[in-house]
Amino acid sequence: MGDLNTHYDAVVIGSGIAGLTFALELGDHARVALLTKRTLVDTNTRWAQGGFSAVLAEGDTFDLHVRDTLVAGAGLCREDVVRMVVESGPEAVAQLIARGVTLDRHDDGRLELTREGGHSRRRVTHARDATGHAIQSALTARIREHERVDIFEHHHAVDLITRARLAKGRGKGLAGGADDRVLGVYALDTATGQVRALAAPIVCLATGGAGRAYMYTSNPEVATGDGVAMAYRAGARVANMEFFQFHPTLLHSRGEKNFLISEALRGEGGVLRNAGGEAFMPRYHTLKDLAPRDIVARAIDRELKVRGDSSVFLDMTHMSADFLESHFPNIHATCLRVGVDMRTTPIPVVPGAHYMCGGVQVDTEGRSHLHGLLAIGEVSCTGLHGANRLASNSLLEGAVYAVRAARAARTLLDELPSVPPLDVPIWDAGDARSPDELVLMNQSWDEIRRLMWSYVGIVRSNRRLKRAERRLELLYSEVREEYWRFLLSADLIELRNLCTVAQLTVKSALTRQESRGLHYSIDYPDADDANWAHETVMRRPVFG
Ligand code: SIN
Repeated sequence: MGDLNTHYDAVVIGSGIAGLTFALELGDHARVALLTKRTLVDTNTRWAQGGFSAVLAEGDTFDLHVRDTLVAGAGLCREDVVRMVVESGPEAVAQLIARGVTLDRHDDGRLELTREGGHSRRRVTHARDATGHAIQSALTARIREHERVDIFEHHHAVDLITRARLAKGRGKGLAGGADDRVLGVYALDTATGQVRALAAPIVCLATGGAGRAYMYTSNPEVATGDGVAMAYRAGARVANMEFFQFHPTLLHSRGEKNFLISEALRGEGGVLRNAGGEAFMPRYHTLKDLAPRDIVARAIDRELKVRGDSSVFLDMTHMSADFLESHFPNIHATCLRVGVDMRTTPIPVVPGAHYMCGGVQVDTEGRSHLHGLLAIGEVSCTGLHGANRLASNSLLEGAVYAVRAARAARTLLDELPSVPPLDVPIWDAGDARSPDELVLMNQSWDEIRRLMWSYVGIVRSNRRLKRAERRLELLYSEVREEYWRFLLSADLIELRNLCTVAQLTVKSALTRQESRGLHYSIDYPDADDANWAHETVMRRPVFG
């Protein structure tokens, strides 16, 4: 793989459940390059605890799962999408098992199902409290065995190569227009510092989310919104970015940052208490601790603000020690490491940024508006989650859309006229030199994450959003300057992407003049179905 300009049928960026499944499906039929900016296992999927939702229990029905998803989505889900995904659930679980994922079972062999917020039935399949780890390990092993998928680890996608981008110098730069199409991707080999051009008529974004845009998040370091930012720069449509989901319960500890305390604990009977010991959720919702996530996160936010406390507590002490140790070994061990024995002591928890419900707008086959560009998993906006994602619907969505997008990719490849592969120009670094003051970059990074937390968090207002908008504009102009002055590095690419995602989130939040699902504004505290029962779509029309 020494060549800096290589040709494939398809390039997939990202190695979580969506990217790996797509590569496995398409790799049997086409030459596929799989790019990942660190190693194959550095993904959001790997950290998923709770599980994978599917209708498998006696007494559960597709209609009930559809209803629960629509209720959580607060009027913005696309019902046809919801039904399609829900009905594909049992097959998607069977496919994971066939690929070597071991899920927990009862003694009689039936899959064990847990419950999470917003689900009216037990329907969350899991591997103890480390479901993502089980999925990631099995799919990673399968992709390493695959002979037709070339794996590029430590390759950081920089930008999509499109017809408009190449024509820019010739005055035909309408990005995302009807004649535009994707032609490949530039990627920085972070080991050598060289930028490789991977030419392909199909690029599939499976880059995950952007939790790192916020100061407190359950997401690993890789979640910097790369796919959304690249797609937006290339002229694709980006939808619903105001709906960022905050998970109600991250472990509150100096020793362990970003550690999720799975909703499955509440599914099994955990009770949230404020620092005064009161089980406060009954004051906020009839479903109490298992109310949809937006409601629980806002309730905690309010308790913290009203009482001036630094955390609330998840109480599991009424449950048997054996049950806790066997069902939540990972959470139990992590809590013990920071001095909290969940068998005897309530766990201190706070909300944190968790899941990006918006993303690159796609159809039911994962196709974006930019010809040849597909998007699957958290980077995409399919219409499944609407204004608030139902717990454990995301691994399901990633798996289902990967299969559909791989099928769509085959059709696109069949339809392409057989022309010799295009030689895309190699990356031109111009006069760029090595960055001399990393402190500037670190400062911008911190500022973005802090201002997003303070001004674009669980509760918003026009004043805070406007303030964030102004600050981000300035930060973006500084980041852009550095981007052109200095040689590319992973940090610089991520900083630029993070800033774009933050700007899109703020713009979308300012646009939506109501409160719905995950977007709550004190200036517009009610939902406004007459004017806002639709997606917020952002598009950058002209290349510049
Ligand atoms: C959890 O285990 O609470 C997270 C599950 C999810 O976000 O879907």
